Amino acid sequence: ADTVETSFLVRNLTANRLCQNQVITAVNDSLPGPTLSVKEGDTLIVHVFNRSPYNLTIHWHGVFQRSTPWADGPEFITQCPIRPGGNYTYRFNLTGQEGTLWWHSHVQWLRATVYGALVIRPRDGQTYPFIQPYREDTILLGEWWNADPIDVENTALASGGAPANADAYTFNGWPGDLFNTCVSNNTYRLDVEPGRTYLLRIINAALNTQFFFKIANHSMTVVGADAAYTNPFQTDVLVLGPGQTHDVLLTTNQSLGLYYMTASPYASAVGVTFNGNTTTGIIAYQNSTQTTPPILPDIPASNDTTTAFAFSSNLTSLVTSPFWSTVPRTVDENMFVTVGLGLTPCNSSQNCSGFFGQRLSASMNNRSFVLPSQVSLLEAVFRNISGVYTTDFPDTPPLVFDYTNLNNSFNQSLLFAPKTTSVKRVRFNATVQVVFQNTALIGVENHPMHLHGFNFYVLAQGFGNYNPATDSQNFNLVNPQERNTIGVPVGGWAVIRFRANNPGVWYVHCHLDVHLPWGLAMAFLVDNGGTPESTLPPPPADLPQC
Ligand code: C2O
Repeated sequence: ADTVETSFLVRNLTANRLCQNQVITAVNDSLPGPTLSVKEGDTLIVHVFNRSPYNLTIHWHGVFQRSTPWADGPEFITQCPIRPGGNYTYRFNLTGQEGTLWWHSHVQWLRATVYGALVIRPRDGQTYPFIQPYREDTILLGEWWNADPIDVENTALASGGAPANADAYTFNGWPGDLFNTCVSNNTYRLDVEPGRTYLLRIINAALNTQFFFKIANHSMTVVGADAAYTNPFQTDVLVLGPGQTHDVLLTTNQSLGLYYMTASPYASAVGVTFNGNTTTGIIAYQNSTQTTPPILPDIPASNDTTTAFAFSSNLTSLVTSPFWSTVPRTVDENMFVTVGLGLTPCNSSQNCSGFFGQRLSASMNNRSFVLPSQVSLLEAVFRNISGVYTTDFPDTPPLVFDYTNLNNSFNQSLLFAPKTTSVKRVRFNATVQVVFQNTALIGVENHPMHLHGFNFYVLAQGFGNYNPATDSQNFNLVNPQERNTIGVPVGGWAVIRFRANNPGVWYVHCHLDVHLPWGLAMAFLVDNGGTPESTLPPPPADLPQC
């Protein structure tokens, strides 16, 4: 195995999109930032130099970080931010996972422009568990604002209401030409040869949008999800929540021509109209003489939950992969966790543009998560600093009601979840099962829930209220998909299971970034029950301080 060493210089630059200049924060002057390519087993060292005006961290989304909890990156969870002018070196190993991951800033909304791909290929002498592709391409789906995204977030937080939608969706940083005006000739274009098989690594790096991805006249074969191999699954549509990746094989078996690929919003929130435009890229066959516009695929309706669920519930793991391990049959920690939006009481000195004259908020098990600000959780654990967090995150919600019925009468106090920094403490190597259940206090919506530090098995998903007696009969314990991010179906539930085999503090949150500052988060503290020193490696000397 090799050591791959690189530097990220993070600074502001002026980019032109949608016929406007906009100052953005970018890594190594590019949008998306650099693609990092490693082989399974390699060690990656990234020296980050923050020359932007903002606080910064980099999170390596989906990397297990075995024995390197200080390199995970979420601000105030595993480190304090790198201040403007500061540096931090992330060092970690990439053993036991292959496929497509990505990296992004984990400070406020900076990840709108601070993101890039992380590709993990087989070690020398090893091959993919599928046909060797003729070529590989990386496609990052993103969002573009004609504004500073941090201003967009701060404006929303000050108002108590929801933030503005993106001005455009992007393929590899470029708004498409079909539905956006003023894109000149910046549409992303993938040139292909006929009769070849390409491996497309598709990453949803958008802040707040789930996407349907299609290519006109072509089907795709999914072979990987979140850097875990899947059984080949043929489909003409992908569904990706923010944070998710899919590796697909594309065979160029159509007549020479131009074909649009589209990323259109899956806006699962019931009753919310969505004004985002589909973005387009072009698959261009070599030697095509087509002069007419590219062929467009049928675009799913933005509320097409049937299509989204069919895709998301049909993926299964490739159990012949060398990285597969069997699903734990016993559960040490059994949790039932509600996820959803709510309100924060508004006082007269504040703006109150949430619903009912209050401010928008969100919670898990009726706790609205608040980040510490003086020290990271991991450092508070390591140094035994009291008063930073509590370990009373509940295993069940405070009250049970009909989560799926908007008109159901429920205890109104559930709308106003207390703001706490409570974590769930689990013993090293415990098996943890979590039933995520959507609440319907304020709307219902598909929440892409992300777990740091681990992959989990998705045992089952469904709509309505989870029923332990009947739904547990349908768990897939044989070849469930393995992921780091799962969309909890709108008005429904998803059951995940993982082994807590990595000591540290691991964030769990909705990857719709609008929900994060509202508190749709919690964290696992995994330790061996002994002293912090016996569980955790010491922090690196250059760990940023608050
Ligand atoms: Cu990709 Cu906590 O995030």
